[in-house]
Amino acid sequence: MRDFNVLSSLIALLLFLVHGVNCEDPYRFFTWKVTYGDIYPLGVKQQAILINGQFPGPQIDAITNDNLIISVYNYLREPFLISWNGIQQRRNSWQDGVYGTNCPILPGRNFTYVLQVKDQIGSYFYFPSLGLHKAAGGFGGIRIWSRPRIPVPFPPPARDFTVLAGDWFKTDHHVLRRRLENGHSLPFPDGLLINGRGWNGYTFTVDQGKTYRFRISNVGLATSINFRIQGHKLKLVEVEGSHTLQNIYTSLDIHLGQSYSVLVTADQPSQDYYIVVSSRFTRQVLATTAILHYSNSHKGVSGPIPAGPTTNIVSSLYQARTIRSNLTASGPRPNPQGSYHYGMIKPSRTIMLANSAPYINGKQRYAVNSVSYLPPDTPLKLADYFNIPGVFYVGSMPSYPSGGNAYLQTSVLGANFREFVEIVFQNWENTVQSWHIDGHSFFVVGMNGGQWTPGSRAGYNLRDTVARCTTQVYPRSWTAIYMALDNVGMWNIRSENWERQYLGLQFYLRVYSSSNSWRDEYPVPRNALLCGRARGRHTRPL
Ligand SMILES: *[C@@H]1O[C@H](CO)[C@@H](O)[C@H](O)[C@H]1NC(C)=O
Ligand SMILES: *[C@@H]1O[C@H](CO)[C@@H](O)[C@H](O)[C@H]1NC(C)=O
Repeated sequence: MRDFNVLSSLIALLLFLVHGVNCEDPYRFFTWKVTYGDIYPLGVKQQAILINGQFPGPQIDAITNDNLIISVYNYLREPFLISWNGIQQRRNSWQDGVYGTNCPILPGRNFTYVLQVKDQIGSYFYFPSLGLHKAAGGFGGIRIWSRPRIPVPFPPPARDFTVLAGDWFKTDHHVLRRRLENGHSLPFPDGLLINGRGWNGYTFTVDQGKTYRFRISNVGLATSINFRIQGHKLKLVEVEGSHTLQNIYTSLDIHLGQSYSVLVTADQPSQDYYIVVSSRFTRQVLATTAILHYSNSHKGVSGPIPAGPTTNIVSSLYQARTIRSNLTASGPRPNPQGSYHYGMIKPSRTIMLANSAPYINGKQRYAVNSVSYLPPDTPLKLADYFNIPGVFYVGSMPSYPSGGNAYLQTSVLGANFREFVEIVFQNWENTVQSWHIDGHSFFVVGMNGGQWTPGSRAGYNLRDTVARCTTQVYPRSWTAIYMALDNVGMWNIRSENWERQYLGLQFYLRVYSSSNSWRDEYPVPRNALLCGRARGRHTRPL
């Protein structure tokens, strides 16, 4: 272990010397050993991906602008990558850890990620991005705390709990992956987990009278979830880095890949209470529970598990519209979140992204604007940097649905640095979608049933919606976002439904600057792994 740490410090020093990362911002070092290990979350033995022996993996705690040096040692029998859901990596898509930006870490090898959580606060998570690794664990929470002098719009909670919840399969991830490759869908999940445990498997201990922060992420593969606590209210305070109006909810819908913070006051009689997570919009409703244990309680959980919403879509849409930003609260900087008037900026163009579920060559695929993403043999970012022809072309992703037959393509949408765009996610399918954009946060200006038209803009919230990185799109509905393309790089836009993502519901957004300056984008890291047609190329000399 000590060797690893010395090594990572050395690597960090080298990277620092050539990388121009701000030396005033502190460094945090992590050494992660990725292995397989046995777990029994639903009563049967399964092989899970462990990080330093843990499932879920270790929590990352950082303060705004910290540099994170994370050395990942791959002891699996197959290539591996970790990606960071919601961490923006300004000027640095080299560290994004998806196959479009990074070569996989081969078995027995290591890679050191150098991230900076620049200008961010809030709740996020990391996950393994290749294959169906996410079905085997390998994920963990990320908390970015505000810098000491920047006000947080609520008193410090007595404790800050991470809740990683989501659906779970008993089937091995290799088998799930083969099933998808053979053109079939995933089975219905076998259950739900909270922090890697099944029914009543995890306990959160609280003191009566005190207030706690719960940071809940949906780390599942297939279903939206609803979160609630028996007898307790949830005060929403943060969504993926935005401080919200502090509305009170009895339950909260959390779609795939989303993260929320709620404050919960232990203001009930001394006993134990159910924390419930249940599946949303599924014919068969899955549920699981954890325990909220009052430290002075001698009485276990009792009474029925509180019921939550199941298939009702309208209630979810209404709840989504109530989630708004507190304009006077500070974000990562001392100035109020509302000082960036996103609603006053006129988007330079509208991009419409329509999902579909076509069969291509007799196999189930998923497509956006008729294009089903095909991974190339060389990461797009490396092909772009080394000018390797034939890997992709900019414009291979149409910015409007064409209505034509679906086809396979390595799809890249081109855009210019500092553009301000409107993106409409149009969902004509009868299932809820969840879209994530790497490297950016965006303003969710509107969502509604039916077909989006220019007239839909009349209903936009141009004043106080939240900025976030993952948004749902309800069945036969649309969601519109505004986004500033303020981060040069190659960025993955993907479905957070893992079957859909794996079978083509994703593409890359190439945010381009012609300036060729480190102010806009860092050059290729010295330690970049090279594979495919980039093998044998040279990164930079020291
Ligand atoms: C980590 O990777 C580097 C570069 O590939 C290699 O030189 C080093 O030996 C590796 N360290 C370990 C402990 O595997
Ligand atoms: C918004 O934030 C301000 C500043 O911290 C705080 O005083 C106020 O109570 C918050 N308002 C709501 C509705 O959450």
